[in-house]
Amino acid sequence: MGDKMKRIAEKSPLANDLFEVIRMRRAIRRYKAHRIPRDHLKKMLDAARLAPSANNNQPWRFIIVEDERTKGLLAKPSTQSFISEANAIVMVLGDGRSGCCGKSVWTTHDPMIATEHLVLAATALGYGTCWIANYKSRPKPWEDEVRKSLEIPDYFDIVVLVAIGTPNETPQPKPRKPLEEICFAETYGKELRLD
Ligand SMILES: Cc1cc2nc3c(=O)[nH]c(=O)nc-3n(C[C@H](O)[C@H](O)[C@H](O)COP(=O)(O)O)c2cc1C
Repeated sequence: MGDKMKRIAEKSPLANDLFEVIRMRRAIRRYKAHRIPRDHLKKMLDAARLAPSANNNQPWRFIIVEDERTKGLLAKPSTQSFISEANAIVMVLGDGRSGCCGKSVWTTHDPMIATEHLVLAATALGYGTCWIANYKSRPKPWEDEVRKSLEIPDYFDIVVLVAIGTPNETPQPKPRKPLEEICFAETYGKELRLD
């Protein structure tokens, strides 16, 4: 990037907002009771919709659960009761029929990318979110009941759940590995100079 472009990029309020949103995001597990306004929900889902995907397959589907009974079902038999307290739970599905490039992994990977778009959009709008993947360890009868209750066709994987709600806690940031530990220059292990 040339110097001029760099100056423009650094001045861009949009870029600053994005970095601020990324910095602000935390896993939030306590929420205040609230119904998410439809225009907010629409913005979040549109952010997910605009995510990139392999071959532009867009193998994601989203079921937005706000019904108390269904939220209870999704929280059951988990120890994570906060799931049912979320204002909404987004169930993210991956279309198992839409493998790309000979690999079915994109059925999962693409919806995960869309999920992070949704999470960042929710953060930008002031909501707390929490990815929930621990349902993977729940018993088969639970998944059967959920699939039946939400009328999920067989060829969709349940990729992840996202709890969304008005935050009722302000957790400290969790530690992250330093850049030196995770980024290298040209070859694995070679120091990347960023100054
Ligand atoms: C794929 C994925 C699955 C997760 N599953 C759960 C989960 O089942 N329950 C939970 O409470 N948090 C879950 N989390 C949240 C992580 O624990 C959290 O993101 C991590 O500890 C870092 O904290 P932070 O998000 O506040 O930075 C999950 C996060 C990701 C990305």
